[in-house]
Amino acid sequence: MKLWIPGPTEVRPALLEAIAAPMIGHRSGAMTAAIERLDPGLKLAFGLAEGSSAQVAVHSVSATAMMESSLLGAGRRKVLSLVNGAFSERFAEVAELIGLEVRRLSVPMGEVVPPAAVAQVLAEEGPFDAVTVVSSETSTGTATPLAPLAKVLQPYPETWLLVDLVSWIAGAPVDFDACGIDFAFAGVQKAFALPPGISVGCASARYLERAATVPQRGFALDPVLIFEGHAKRKTPATPCIPLYFGLGQQLEDIGPTAADWRARFDRHRRMQRTTIDWAAGHGLSLLPEEQFGSPTVSCIRAGDLDVAALVAGLAERGLQISNGYGDLKGKTFRIGHMGDHTEAGLADLLAAADEVLAG
Ligand SMILES: Cc1ncc(COP(=O)(O)O)c(C=O)c1O
Repeated sequence: MKLWIPGPTEVRPALLEAIAAPMIGHRSGAMTAAIERLDPGLKLAFGLAEGSSAQVAVHSVSATAMMESSLLGAGRRKVLSLVNGAFSERFAEVAELIGLEVRRLSVPMGEVVPPAAVAQVLAEEGPFDAVTVVSSETSTGTATPLAPLAKVLQPYPETWLLVDLVSWIAGAPVDFDACGIDFAFAGVQKAFALPPGISVGCASARYLERAATVPQRGFALDPVLIFEGHAKRKTPATPCIPLYFGLGQQLEDIGPTAADWRARFDRHRRMQRTTIDWAAGHGLSLLPEEQFGSPTVSCIRAGDLDVAALVAGLAERGLQISNGYGDLKGKTFRIGHMGDHTEAGLADLLAAADEVLAG
């Protein structure tokens, strides 16, 4: 079955081979080298500016655990959570579950929280330790632009911007420093096109400095230990070594220059365009306004189309797409055009979908 779901996505055989390399000790020189190998590519993935004081890290947990980690170091007052779908709601829930006070700013699924509304809450209800946001809401294929948020956060230098980049990074550009991000994270099963099991993160110097003063951060998800461990090439606990090999290979395969990464992002935008045009050809449109469509996952309003039949018809042809998420089941369907998927592969998928729809 070829995975065109919004993650996990297809993994190239070369990466599967890299992951299958013989095991090494995690306190060995070989492991130090495996960690060191990651930094140049991760800096490109997070778009770190030359001389940036932000730090990158890898941790052997899922992205949800990194949500928790980002919150554990943010402070003990309250957070403002921008909620526009299932994963941004999860971010808010995780904050509540670790005992933080949460102010949700919610909009219907498929919409983007307006920056002006964020500015108003910050001004009237602050101070907040952090604002949480999901850059690409995988449940709705909706992208929230980060630069306007950075602007409204500028007058609040004590309020961190915590960003879920799960279905964004490696499929579209991140500008960590210019967007004033303090902690960003993602799993690797989306546009990095690796099996799930590790997460990547990036934290600002000011975030890490304050995090060190926050009490009771635990151990396994303590952001200070995660980032210190990565910097010293000594992970706090035994890491998922095979995925370090896979990520190292993938980062090198993407390429060593910003231009290599731009080519990858351009391919994602073209696959998004193709998908939107295909949908339009069937009288269908994206759930979000097109300007807010995610470059990695298109969530298409189904109209009268029988989503279950489309999903089943494609599955019979060895191709897997996703039904809508939660309440959107049957009303939308999602195509994950991310990672190492090619434009030729997408053309085949859409031709197969045409065949299914033609009955
Ligand atoms: C935007 C977003 N955030 C968080 C998650 C949770 O990731 P994980 O299942 O790796 O914890 C997902 C998973 O699909 C996601 O799409």
